[in-house]
Amino acid sequence: MILAALFLFQVLGAILLVIAAVNVARWLWQYTWLPRQLQGSRLAERYGPGSWALITGASDGLGKAFAQKLARYGFNLLLVSRTQEKLNRLQTELETFGIHARTVCADLSNSSEPTYSLITAAAQDVDLSIVINCVGVTVHQLYADIPSSTVRHLLSLNVNTTAIVTHTTLPLLLRHTATTGRRGALLNVGSIVGRFYWPGTQLYGACKAFIDHLTVPLAFEYRAQLDVLSFQPTVMATAMATGTEPAAITITPQAAAHAALSHLGRCVTSHGHWRHAMLAALFSILPSKLRNRIFLKNALEMGDAERAKGN
Ligand SMILES: NC(=O)c1ccc[n+]([C@@H]2O[C@H](COP(=O)([O-])OP(=O)(O)OC[C@H]3O[C@@H](n4cnc5c(N)ncnc54)[C@H](OP(=O)(O)O)[C@@H]3O)[C@@H](O)[C@H]2O)c1
Repeated sequence: MILAALFLFQVLGAILLVIAAVNVARWLWQYTWLPRQLQGSRLAERYGPGSWALITGASDGLGKAFAQKLARYGFNLLLVSRTQEKLNRLQTELETFGIHARTVCADLSNSSEPTYSLITAAAQDVDLSIVINCVGVTVHQLYADIPSSTVRHLLSLNVNTTAIVTHTTLPLLLRHTATTGRRGALLNVGSIVGRFYWPGTQLYGACKAFIDHLTVPLAFEYRAQLDVLSFQPTVMATAMATGTEPAAITITPQAAAHAALSHLGRCVTSHGHWRHAMLAALFSILPSKLRNRIFLKNALEMGDAERAKGN
């Protein structure tokens, strides 16, 4: 009886060890091996050389980094954001790579029909193979202290716009796959904040959790046609993060974009850069009481920094 129990424990232990080893190997493959591979020819071959990529929030930060990468890889670009001069400057820069770029100037916090018609009209006559929903905005404050206009703004820009742009561009991605026989890609930008309950930035976290829950099922609904990635980065050195102390986890938006693109077509969820994945792994093993205390303190400090810079 005792021998049988010992044998059972050994077998269970061996199974757990194999599962742990597979998870570690998969982590290393995703976060250290994939980003080292050349991406340009892989992405062009997979989605079609000279096809078009649409990026929201393209004029700055992470969206701009995606645009610069994809232009280098030979994709034509549809750049969407709020400030025409910034879009014009980026368009001129990207066209030096020999690609075509179009701009759509729209305030995406206005989630009425005409806003999205501008985007679909601009994408209607091109071979759209990639959509990147990158636009997003954050706030760090106790919930009752957030002005109600900010609550509406966050919901509109993070939730409505991501859901509606995804919905209105899916038929164009599916048209691409039907006419070219190649895959299309949808990359929705969330945040690590959407993965954990995050006191002090609860609304932003809920919006980003929404994006994750919208995105991952699409990977399965359209698995025959599309590569879908729910991307959850941590801190990047962009305008959104100004006022926060540069830290070991702060990476450039270029590094984040590179890591995310290396995961497109290979994974369904990703933290992108290995440093951000390490942090997520660390958070997931911290006791929730301690985690919540750290998150709240950190978020309220970020809120002070945001208000100091006038956000
Ligand atoms: N930065 C971070 O540490 C961090 C961490 C995790 C996740 N993220 C996520 O990464 C994404 C990109 O963030 P980021 O740091 O690159 O932001 P960012 O540097 O602040 O850039 C935001 C971009 O969105 C555009 N935008 C802002 N409001 C808009 C509006 N109402 N209508 C249309 N366009 C608008 C901006 O255009 P204009 O320049 O014309 O205003 C700009 O191109 C977001 O979804 C964010 O939640 C960021």
